[in-house]
Amino acid sequence: MTWNRETFIATVGDAVWAPSIHNTQPWRFRRTAQSVDVLADAGRALPACDPHGRAARVSCGAAAYNLRLALAAAGEPAEYTFGRDDVLVHLTPGPPRPATPTEVRLHRQILRRHTNRFPFADRPVEPGVIAVLAAGAGEEGGWLEFMSGEQELYEVAALVRSADAQLSADPAYVAELRAWSSGADERVEGVGAAAAGPAPHPAEVLTRRDFGGPERDATRDPARTPLVAVLGAYGDGPADEVRAGMVLQRVLLAAADLGLAAGMFSQPIEVPPIRERLRRLLGRPDLPQLVLRFGYAPTTCYTNRRPVADVIEL
Ligand SMILES: Cc1cc2nc3c(=O)[nH]c(=O)nc-3n(C[C@H](O)[C@H](O)[C@H](O)COP(=O)(O)O)c2cc1C
Repeated sequence: MTWNRETFIATVGDAVWAPSIHNTQPWRFRRTAQSVDVLADAGRALPACDPHGRAARVSCGAAAYNLRLALAAAGEPAEYTFGRDDVLVHLTPGPPRPATPTEVRLHRQILRRHTNRFPFADRPVEPGVIAVLAAGAGEEGGWLEFMSGEQELYEVAALVRSADAQLSADPAYVAELRAWSSGADERVEGVGAAAAGPAPHPAEVLTRRDFGGPERDATRDPARTPLVAVLGAYGDGPADEVRAGMVLQRVLLAAADLGLAAGMFSQPIEVPPIRERLRRLLGRPDLPQLVLRFGYAPTTCYTNRRPVADVIEL
């Protein structure tokens, strides 16, 4: 027997607060007699920036992590397997047990966590905090590698900049980005001007994706040496991408719990030759899935979500 209808609806209500590429929310949740499945919603694909659906699968993995956490917090944890085709994750009820203290803490951060595209303070992040984030990624079956020196940081930053320039030269990419950002403050999806942060400035170390935020006077992000990490899973197949999404959400919730702000940079992942250069820079066998930035910053604006009724099949 699967979870009851109320638990399903309530926990999907948490799942949808996961991050997703351009806030497309490319997921559906289906409740059957035996299970709950997380499905990719092909109707919300981004053909220009994500032609193979990789970022959509990472996004769905993040939502599946939230769902698992919400079920665990309700005392009805899931066991899960990765699915096939459009079924990405297949969850079945495991033995009931009380939530662990870590699950309770992370679950509390689901609504607090958000992407921060505003300047971060020039305050360093303590090594102990960095170790907690990397350990969390490992526990979820992935890796989070922090750039340790300025040279490594600037090499990653150069890849982000070059990828952003290549993407921005593609009219289809720009049109898609505008479609998911214009007027989105009033919409239930997309990234609105309020969440976009100020317009990217050439003096910034890490080139942010341009969601159409307003020009600003200040020319420089105060954090001259931002804390940057690259995230991945052990493999490059579709299930590894879903896994990477679970790892991502685990890391982001842990960061929120530690009072850290986080930003995401997927431009270098979206240009295959640059993604390969990033992989070689890290000296890893697996392709990277996302570049992340952590630091201290005031809470900013939140994006919206579609109603739960729009994403469930009972
Ligand atoms: C796979 C993936 C890639 C993303 N890439 C970027 C990016 O390049 N730049 C950016 O500002 N945000 C990026 N984001 C963050 C999303 O835009 C963000 O999660 C979404 O707008 C919802 O907002 P929230 O995270 O504040 O809830 C990415 C998120 C995911 C899951």
